[in-house]
Amino acid sequence: MDIRLDRPSLISWLEEERPDRLAELYEAAYNTKLSTVGDKVYLRGLVEISNICRKNCLYCGIRRDNRNTGRYEISVDNVLDAAEFAFRDGYGSLVIQGGERMDRAFIDKITHILKEIKKRWPLGITLSLGEQSKDVYREWFEAGAHRYLLRIESSDKQLYERIHPVDPLHSYRTRIQALKDLRDCGYQVGTGVMIGLPFQNAWNLADDLLFFKKMDIDMCGMGPYLEHSGTPLYSYRHLLLPKERRLELSVTMVALLRLLMPDINIAATTAMQAIDPFGREKAIMAGANVLMPNLTLAEVRDEYQIYQNKPGAGEDAAISSSITERRLREMKIPIGRDQWGDSIHFSRRH
Ligand code: 5AD
Ligand code: SF4
Repeated sequence: MDIRLDRPSLISWLEEERPDRLAELYEAAYNTKLSTVGDKVYLRGLVEISNICRKNCLYCGIRRDNRNTGRYEISVDNVLDAAEFAFRDGYGSLVIQGGERMDRAFIDKITHILKEIKKRWPLGITLSLGEQSKDVYREWFEAGAHRYLLRIESSDKQLYERIHPVDPLHSYRTRIQALKDLRDCGYQVGTGVMIGLPFQNAWNLADDLLFFKKMDIDMCGMGPYLEHSGTPLYSYRHLLLPKERRLELSVTMVALLRLLMPDINIAATTAMQAIDPFGREKAIMAGANVLMPNLTLAEVRDEYQIYQNKPGAGEDAAISSSITERRLREMKIPIGRDQWGDSIHFSRRH
Protein backbone atom coordinates (compact mmCIF):
# COMPACT_ATOMS: atom_id res chain seq x y z
CA MET A 1 0.00 0.00 0.00
CA ASP A 2 1.26 3.44 -0.91
CA ILE A 3 0.92 5.66 2.15
CA ARG A 4 1.21 9.40 1.80
CA LEU A 5 2.82 11.30 4.62
CA ASP A 6 2.18 14.95 3.86
CA ARG A 7 0.44 16.95 6.57
CA PRO A 8 -3.15 16.52 5.31
CA SER A 9 -2.62 12.76 4.92
CA LEU A 10 -1.17 12.47 8.42
CA ILE A 11 -4.19 14.31 9.79
CA SER A 12 -6.62 12.02 8.02
CA TRP A 13 -4.78 8.94 9.31
CA LEU A 14 -5.02 10.37 12.81
CA GLU A 15 -8.77 10.74 12.33
CA GLU A 16 -9.13 7.26 10.86
CA GLU A 17 -11.02 4.77 13.02
CA ARG A 18 -11.93 1.98 10.55
CA PRO A 19 -10.15 -1.15 11.82
CA ASP A 20 -9.39 -2.52 8.34
CA ARG A 21 -7.73 0.71 7.20
CA LEU A 22 -5.71 0.98 10.41
CA ALA A 23 -4.64 -2.67 10.06
CA GLU A 24 -3.25 -1.86 6.61
CA LEU A 25 -1.34 1.10 8.01
CA TYR A 26 0.11 -0.97 10.85
CA GLU A 27 1.16 -3.70 8.46
CA ALA A 28 2.91 -1.24 6.16
CA ALA A 29 4.76 0.23 9.16
CA TYR A 30 5.72 -3.24 10.40
CA ASN A 31 7.14 -4.10 6.97
CA THR A 32 9.12 -0.87 6.93
CA LYS A 33 10.51 -1.77 10.32
CA LEU A 34 11.58 -5.22 9.08
CA SER A 35 13.42 -3.78 6.11
CA THR A 36 15.19 -1.00 8.05
CA VAL A 37 15.84 -1.75 11.73
CA GLY A 38 14.92 -5.45 11.53
CA ASP A 39 12.52 -7.65 13.45
CA LYS A 40 14.26 -7.56 16.84
CA VAL A 41 13.06 -5.76 19.93
CA TYR A 42 15.76 -4.28 22.16
CA LEU A 43 15.31 -4.27 25.91
CA ARG A 44 16.38 -1.47 28.19
CA GLY A 45 16.09 -2.09 31.91
CA LEU A 46 14.34 0.92 33.46
CA VAL A 47 15.45 2.20 36.86
CA GLU A 48 13.32 4.94 38.37
CA ILE A 49 15.99 6.42 40.56
CA SER A 50 14.01 9.13 42.37
CA ASN A 51 10.57 10.73 42.32
CA ILE A 52 11.77 14.03 43.75
CA CYS A 53 11.09 16.72 41.15
CA ARG A 54 11.48 20.48 41.08
CA LYS A 55 8.90 20.86 38.33
CA ASN A 56 5.15 21.17 38.51
CA CYS A 57 3.85 19.83 35.19
CA LEU A 58 0.06 19.97 35.36
CA TYR A 59 -0.45 16.34 34.30
CA CYS A 60 2.14 14.50 36.36
CA GLY A 61 1.51 12.64 39.59
CA ILE A 62 4.99 13.28 40.98
CA ARG A 63 4.86 17.05 40.39
CA ARG A 64 6.38 19.14 43.14
CA ASP A 65 3.09 20.28 44.65
CA ASN A 66 1.57 16.82 44.97
CA ARG A 67 1.86 16.33 48.72
CA ASN A 68 0.06 13.00 48.64
CA THR A 69 3.01 11.06 47.39
CA GLY A 70 5.95 9.91 49.50
CA ARG A 71 9.30 10.88 48.05
CA TYR A 72 12.20 8.49 47.63
CA GLU A 73 15.68 8.29 46.20
CA ILE A 74 17.34 4.92 45.75
CA SER A 75 20.92 4.20 46.71
CA VAL A 76 23.88 3.80 44.40
CA ASP A 77 24.00 0.11 45.33
CA ASN A 78 20.38 -0.38 44.33
CA VAL A 79 21.09 1.10 40.90
CA LEU A 80 24.15 -1.14 40.52
CA ASP A 81 22.05 -4.17 41.48
CA ALA A 82 19.57 -3.29 38.74
CA ALA A 83 22.41 -2.81 36.25
CA GLU A 84 23.83 -6.21 37.17
CA PHE A 85 20.41 -7.78 36.76
CA ALA A 86 20.04 -6.15 33.33
CA PHE A 87 23.46 -7.33 32.26
CA ARG A 88 22.98 -10.92 33.46
CA ASP A 89 19.56 -11.10 31.85
CA GLY A 90 21.06 -10.18 28.46
CA TYR A 91 19.66 -6.65 28.23
CA GLY A 92 22.06 -4.54 26.25
CA SER A 93 21.24 -1.38 28.12
CA LEU A 94 19.81 0.51 31.01
CA VAL A 95 17.64 3.62 31.30
CA ILE A 96 18.09 5.76 34.39
CA GLN A 97 15.01 7.91 34.82
CA GLY A 98 13.90 10.28 37.53
CA GLY A 99 12.33 13.56 38.50
CA GLU A 100 14.21 16.72 37.58
CA ARG A 101 16.85 17.85 40.07
CA MET A 102 19.78 20.18 39.57
CA ASP A 103 21.44 20.02 42.99
CA ARG A 104 25.12 19.18 42.94
CA ALA A 105 24.70 16.15 45.20
CA PHE A 106 22.30 14.58 42.69
CA ILE A 107 24.47 15.42 39.68
CA ASP A 108 27.52 13.91 41.40
CA LYS A 109 25.59 10.82 42.33
CA ILE A 110 24.58 10.22 38.71
CA THR A 111 28.16 10.78 37.51
CA HIS A 112 29.41 8.31 40.10
CA ILE A 113 26.78 5.72 39.13
CA LEU A 114 27.64 6.05 35.43
CA LYS A 115 31.33 5.51 36.08
CA GLU A 116 30.71 2.53 38.35
CA ILE A 117 28.41 0.84 35.84
CA LYS A 118 30.88 1.42 33.01
CA LYS A 119 33.71 -0.05 35.10
CA ARG A 120 31.76 -3.23 35.70
CA TRP A 121 29.58 -4.04 32.68
CA PRO A 122 29.48 -3.23 28.95
CA LEU A 123 25.96 -1.80 29.15
CA GLY A 124 24.63 1.06 27.03
CA ILE A 125 23.18 3.78 29.22
CA THR A 126 20.29 6.14 28.51
CA LEU A 127 19.44 9.00 30.84
CA SER A 128 16.03 10.56 31.34
CA LEU A 129 16.56 13.17 34.04
CA GLY A 130 14.96 16.28 32.65
CA GLU A 131 16.49 19.60 31.70
CA GLN A 132 20.03 20.25 32.89
CA SER A 133 22.80 22.67 32.00
CA LYS A 134 24.97 21.87 29.02
CA ASP A 135 27.91 21.33 31.38
CA VAL A 136 25.97 18.64 33.19
CA TYR A 137 24.95 16.92 29.93
CA ARG A 138 28.64 16.93 29.02
CA GLU A 139 29.74 15.62 32.41
CA TRP A 140 27.30 12.71 32.19
CA PHE A 141 28.25 11.98 28.60
CA GLU A 142 31.92 11.81 29.54
CA ALA A 143 31.03 9.55 32.46
CA GLY A 144 29.46 7.04 30.07
CA ALA A 145 25.87 7.94 29.15
CA HIS A 146 25.29 8.07 25.41
CA ARG A 147 21.53 8.41 24.92
CA TYR A 148 19.15 10.93 26.48
CA LEU A 149 15.37 11.03 26.52
CA LEU A 150 13.59 14.34 26.96
CA ARG A 151 10.02 14.47 25.79
CA ILE A 152 8.73 17.68 24.29
CA GLU A 153 5.28 16.52 25.60
CA SER A 154 3.62 18.61 22.87
CA SER A 155 5.41 20.44 20.08
CA ASP A 156 2.63 23.02 19.93
CA LYS A 157 3.73 25.96 22.08
CA GLN A 158 0.17 26.90 23.00
CA LEU A 159 -0.73 23.39 24.04
CA TYR A 160 2.59 23.07 25.88
CA GLU A 161 1.63 26.14 27.87
CA ARG A 162 -1.79 24.73 28.72
CA ILE A 163 -0.29 21.63 30.28
CA HIS A 164 2.56 23.34 32.12
CA PRO A 165 2.68 26.36 34.40
CA VAL A 166 3.73 29.37 32.36
CA ASP A 167 6.92 30.43 34.12
CA PRO A 168 10.67 30.29 33.44
CA LEU A 169 10.97 26.84 35.01
CA HIS A 170 8.58 25.36 32.43
CA SER A 171 9.65 27.23 29.32
CA TYR A 172 8.91 25.74 25.89
CA ARG A 173 11.97 27.49 24.44
CA THR A 174 14.25 26.04 27.09
CA ARG A 175 12.94 22.58 26.29
CA ILE A 176 13.71 22.98 22.59
CA GLN A 177 17.15 24.37 23.42
CA ALA A 178 17.79 21.38 25.69
CA LEU A 179 17.17 18.99 22.79
CA LYS A 180 19.71 20.92 20.70
CA ASP A 181 22.26 21.00 23.54
CA LEU A 182 21.98 17.24 23.97
CA ARG A 183 22.68 16.74 20.29
CA ASP A 184 25.70 19.07 20.50
CA CYS A 185 27.09 17.08 23.40
CA GLY A 186 27.07 13.92 21.30
CA TYR A 187 24.05 12.07 22.66
CA GLN A 188 21.60 10.02 20.67
CA VAL A 189 18.56 12.15 21.36
CA GLY A 190 15.07 10.89 22.05
CA THR A 191 11.90 12.85 22.52
CA GLY A 192 8.18 12.19 22.46
CA VAL A 193 4.71 13.43 23.28
CA MET A 194 1.63 12.43 25.22
CA ILE A 195 -1.32 11.41 23.10
CA GLY A 196 -4.94 12.18 23.87
CA LEU A 197 -4.28 15.24 26.02
CA PRO A 198 -7.17 17.59 26.72
CA PHE A 199 -7.25 20.38 24.08
CA GLN A 200 -5.20 18.27 21.64
CA ASN A 201 -6.45 17.47 18.14
CA ALA A 202 -5.29 15.49 15.10
CA TRP A 203 -3.53 18.58 13.69
CA ASN A 204 -1.40 18.90 16.81
CA LEU A 205 -0.42 15.24 16.57
CA ALA A 206 0.44 15.51 12.86
CA ASP A 207 2.61 18.51 13.73
CA ASP A 208 4.28 16.51 16.49
CA LEU A 209 5.31 13.93 13.89
CA LEU A 210 6.62 16.63 11.57
CA PHE A 211 8.46 18.18 14.53
CA PHE A 212 10.26 14.87 15.18
CA LYS A 213 11.30 14.79 11.54
CA LYS A 214 12.47 18.41 11.56
CA MET A 215 14.48 17.87 14.75
CA ASP A 216 15.96 14.76 13.13
CA ILE A 217 15.57 12.78 16.36
CA ASP A 218 17.21 9.39 16.90
CA MET A 219 14.66 7.87 19.26
CA CYS A 220 11.07 8.37 20.28
CA GLY A 221 8.95 7.37 23.25
CA MET A 222 5.34 8.40 23.29
CA GLY A 223 2.18 7.10 24.82
CA PRO A 224 -1.36 7.87 25.88
CA TYR A 225 -2.05 10.58 28.42
CA LEU A 226 -3.61 9.11 31.56
CA GLU A 227 -5.37 11.44 33.95
CA HIS A 228 -4.18 11.53 37.57
CA SER A 229 -6.64 12.72 40.21
CA GLY A 230 -3.91 14.47 42.19
CA THR A 231 -3.07 16.90 39.36
CA PRO A 232 -4.60 20.15 38.04
CA LEU A 233 -5.22 18.75 34.54
CA TYR A 234 -7.64 16.23 36.05
CA SER A 235 -10.36 18.89 36.04
CA TYR A 236 -10.46 18.63 32.23
CA ARG A 237 -11.09 14.89 32.19
CA HIS A 238 -14.53 15.42 30.62
CA LEU A 239 -12.70 16.50 27.44
CA LEU A 240 -10.79 13.24 27.06
CA LEU A 241 -11.23 10.55 24.43
CA PRO A 242 -12.04 7.07 25.75
CA LYS A 243 -8.87 5.29 26.91
CA GLU A 244 -9.09 2.66 24.15
CA ARG A 245 -9.11 5.40 21.52
CA ARG A 246 -6.13 7.10 23.17
CA LEU A 247 -4.28 3.80 22.89
CA GLU A 248 -5.33 3.31 19.27
CA LEU A 249 -4.15 6.83 18.45
CA SER A 250 -0.83 6.08 20.14
CA VAL A 251 -0.34 2.96 18.02
CA THR A 252 -1.27 4.98 14.92
CA MET A 253 1.34 7.60 15.90
CA VAL A 254 3.97 4.84 16.19
CA ALA A 255 3.07 3.48 12.74
CA LEU A 256 3.13 6.90 11.07
CA LEU A 257 6.45 7.76 12.69
CA ARG A 258 7.97 4.46 11.56
CA LEU A 259 6.99 5.33 7.99
CA LEU A 260 8.21 8.92 8.33
CA MET A 261 11.53 8.07 10.02
CA PRO A 262 12.21 4.41 9.12
CA ASP A 263 15.56 3.95 10.89
CA ILE A 264 15.00 5.55 14.31
CA ASN A 265 14.33 3.64 17.55
CA ILE A 266 10.72 3.79 18.71
CA ALA A 267 9.64 2.56 22.14
CA ALA A 268 6.50 0.69 23.08
CA THR A 269 5.72 2.46 26.36
CA THR A 270 4.34 1.46 29.74
CA ALA A 271 1.40 3.86 29.46
CA MET A 272 0.16 1.75 26.52
CA GLN A 273 0.26 -1.30 28.77
CA ALA A 274 -1.70 0.61 31.42
CA ILE A 275 -4.69 0.76 29.06
CA ASP A 276 -4.41 -2.72 27.58
CA PRO A 277 -2.23 -5.61 28.82
CA PHE A 278 -1.24 -6.10 25.17
CA GLY A 279 -0.81 -2.39 24.43
CA ARG A 280 2.96 -2.56 24.04
CA GLU A 281 2.76 -5.61 21.80
CA LYS A 282 0.28 -3.76 19.57
CA ALA A 283 2.82 -0.96 19.19
CA ILE A 284 5.54 -3.49 18.35
CA MET A 285 3.33 -4.92 15.61
CA ALA A 286 2.92 -1.37 14.26
CA GLY A 287 6.62 -0.52 14.11
CA ALA A 288 8.03 -0.05 17.63
CA ASN A 289 11.36 -1.81 18.33
CA VAL A 290 12.30 -0.93 21.92
CA LEU A 291 10.83 -2.09 25.24
CA MET A 292 11.76 -0.89 28.70
CA PRO A 293 10.93 -3.49 31.36
CA ASN A 294 10.83 -1.92 34.81
CA LEU A 295 13.69 -2.97 37.08
CA THR A 296 12.89 -0.51 39.87
CA LEU A 297 12.88 -1.98 43.39
CA ALA A 298 9.44 -3.29 44.34
CA GLU A 299 9.45 -1.28 47.60
CA VAL A 300 9.50 2.13 45.91
CA ARG A 301 7.70 1.40 42.65
CA ASP A 302 4.31 2.52 43.84
CA GLU A 303 5.68 5.96 44.58
CA TYR A 304 6.68 6.54 40.97
CA GLN A 305 3.08 7.12 39.92
CA ILE A 306 3.32 9.67 37.14
CA TYR A 307 -0.19 8.39 36.32
CA GLN A 308 -2.47 6.16 38.37
CA ASN A 309 -2.68 2.36 38.07
CA LYS A 310 0.74 2.17 36.48
CA PRO A 311 1.39 -1.49 35.60
CA GLY A 312 3.94 -3.55 37.49
CA ALA A 313 3.08 -2.31 41.01
CA GLY A 314 4.61 -4.57 43.64
CA GLU A 315 6.53 -6.62 41.06
CA ASP A 316 10.28 -6.88 41.36
CA ALA A 317 12.76 -6.84 38.50
CA ALA A 318 12.69 -10.60 38.00
CA ILE A 319 8.90 -10.71 37.74
CA SER A 320 8.54 -7.71 35.40
CA SER A 321 11.25 -8.93 33.08
CA SER A 322 10.04 -12.53 32.97
CA ILE A 323 6.49 -11.38 32.17
CA THR A 324 7.77 -9.20 29.34
CA GLU A 325 10.01 -11.90 27.95
CA ARG A 326 7.37 -14.62 28.10
CA ARG A 327 4.96 -12.39 26.24
CA LEU A 328 7.52 -11.69 23.51
CA ARG A 329 8.28 -15.41 23.20
CA GLU A 330 4.58 -16.23 22.88
CA MET A 331 4.24 -13.66 20.14
CA LYS A 332 7.40 -14.95 18.43
CA ILE A 333 9.00 -11.51 18.62
CA PRO A 334 12.80 -11.97 18.74
CA ILE A 335 14.88 -10.09 21.35
CA GLY A 336 18.18 -8.38 20.51
CA ARG A 337 20.18 -9.99 23.33
CA ASP A 338 23.37 -8.45 24.72
CA GLN A 339 23.32 -5.57 22.28
CA TRP A 340 23.06 -1.86 22.82
CA GLY A 341 20.56 -1.59 19.99
CA ASP A 342 21.68 1.90 19.07
CA SER A 343 19.68 4.07 16.73
CA ILE A 344 20.66 3.22 13.15
CA HIS A 345 19.55 6.72 12.25
CA PHE A 346 22.25 8.10 14.55
CA SER A 347 25.02 5.92 13.13
CA ARG A 348 24.05 6.91 9.59
CA ARG A 349 24.26 10.60 10.45
CA HIS A 350 27.77 10.07 11.76
N1 5AD B 1 0.03 10.32 31.60
C1 5AD B 1 0.88 9.82 30.70
N2 5AD B 1 2.19 10.10 30.67
C2 5AD B 1 2.65 10.94 31.61
N3 5AD B 1 3.87 11.42 31.85
C3 5AD B 1 3.83 12.22 32.93
N4 5AD B 1 2.57 12.26 33.41
C4 5AD B 1 1.82 11.49 32.60
C5 5AD B 1 0.45 11.16 32.57
N5 5AD B 1 -0.40 11.64 33.47
C6 5AD B 1 5.01 11.14 30.98
C7 5AD B 1 5.60 12.42 30.42
C8 5AD B 1 7.01 12.41 30.93
C9 5AD B 1 7.25 10.95 31.20
C10 5AD B 1 8.33 10.70 32.19
O1 5AD B 1 6.02 10.50 31.69
O2 5AD B 1 5.57 12.36 29.01
O3 5AD B 1 7.94 12.91 30.00
FE1 SF4 C 1 8.78 16.28 37.01
FE2 SF4 C 1 8.87 14.99 34.65
FE3 SF4 C 1 6.69 14.85 36.22
FE4 SF4 C 1 7.26 17.13 34.97
S1 SF4 C 1 6.74 15.15 33.97
S2 SF4 C 1 6.63 16.92 37.10
S3 SF4 C 1 9.49 17.13 35.05
S4 SF4 C 1 8.72 14.05 36.69
